Amino acid sequence: MKKIVVTGGAGFIGSAFIRHQLKTYPEIHVVNFDKLTYAGNLDNVKECDLGRYTFVQGDIADRGAIQSAMEGCDAIVNFAADTHVDRSIMGATDFISTNCTGVYNICEAARELKTQRVLLVSTDEVYGSIREGSFKETDPPQPRNPYSASKAGGELIALAHFETFGTPIVITRGSNTYGPYQYPEKVMPLFITNLIDGEQVPLYQGGEHNVRDWLWVYDHASGIDTALRKGELGQIYNVAGGNERENIVLTHKLLSGCGRDESFIRLVKDRPGHDFRYSIDASKLRGLGWTPTMDWDQGVSETVDWYKNNEWWWRKIKSGEFLEYYRKQYEER
Ligand code: NAD
Ligand code: TYD
Repeated sequence: MKKIVVTGGAGFIGSAFIRHQLKTYPEIHVVNFDKLTYAGNLDNVKECDLGRYTFVQGDIADRGAIQSAMEGCDAIVNFAADTHVDRSIMGATDFISTNCTGVYNICEAARELKTQRVLLVSTDEVYGSIREGSFKETDPPQPRNPYSASKAGGELIALAHFETFGTPIVITRGSNTYGPYQYPEKVMPLFITNLIDGEQVPLYQGGEHNVRDWLWVYDHASGIDTALRKGELGQIYNVAGGNERENIVLTHKLLSGCGRDESFIRLVKDRPGHDFRYSIDASKLRGLGWTPTMDWDQGVSETVDWYKNNEWWWRKIKSGEFLEYYRKQYEER
């Protein structure tokens, strides 16, 4: 693969994937196609080598724009999405436009241009919640919130495209991802940056024992890369962190990493329809040679240190659009 288009490459995982590609493959050229929504940030890709990297601002819901960016590329990896569950509960129109219509446009453009591979980055949330055991790729999607429903919709559109037209689709379903450059609406960077500022963390009451499986962002990037290069067309691959933790356990870990005590927890009204537990089995991807490398304790402490050392990155985010969102989201809870 010589030229790949990465959509949503100015976001959290997409930018890590671009850094991973440029470092791992000396010959590769990456086109980053991103709408630059509130979550898109060119600071995330500012260290990319301009000789092998191009940025194009555009919307995957705009068929002409994404098709012209894809011309001459060997593969496309789609990270572009609206991604935050709480925002999808406030309104999901953009989620459906990007996560369903956008994916359809990518499939149509790939069909027309005969693109060799289309990797869709999806999420373990499409399975819904599971009390015991872990989901396998053969389990049916049962999404329970507007975000995960829109992601499942995009997946089904793409799989139908594979069946009908032979479009070369591969899908990954990753678990909750953490690390540097994550927009501070998500639980880890929100809690860490609040604690650095001496503010309380809004832990959802009733969700203290809910479980998420944490995946280091560069392990997620290498999992997607494995599926892109070695995955079978028309197949789905789970990418699991193997680090299931209750929210209260995560919260205590972040409190201690930031030198704060329990008085910094503020219990707030729970998210409606809050999924209890996500758990996936990644043996299919491991069968292609992928293995996650980051130890949980080390990953969390590296993440805490990164936010402590990179206030330049998150302070400007937390002072803009974010403040209005935070007020709406948390003040009446
Ligand atoms: P993010 O919210 O940090 O970034 C999303 C990026 O997509 C932003 O740069 C944004 O500007 C861009 N974008 C949004 N709408 C667009 C559009 N219509 N056209 C072009 N660009 C658009 O997201 P993330 O956390 O990096 O997630 C990336 C992908 O990984 C998503 O598809 C998400 O569903 C999936 N995923 C995320 C997680 C997680 O824990 N964050 C876990 C599993 C899967
Ligand atoms: P989040 O980072 O939003 O990811 P997702 O909902 O996609 O898994 O939330 C992770 C967990 O943290 C989830 O169980 C909800 C909980 N949470 C809180 O308790 N307080 C918060 O302010 C946020 C954003 C999340």
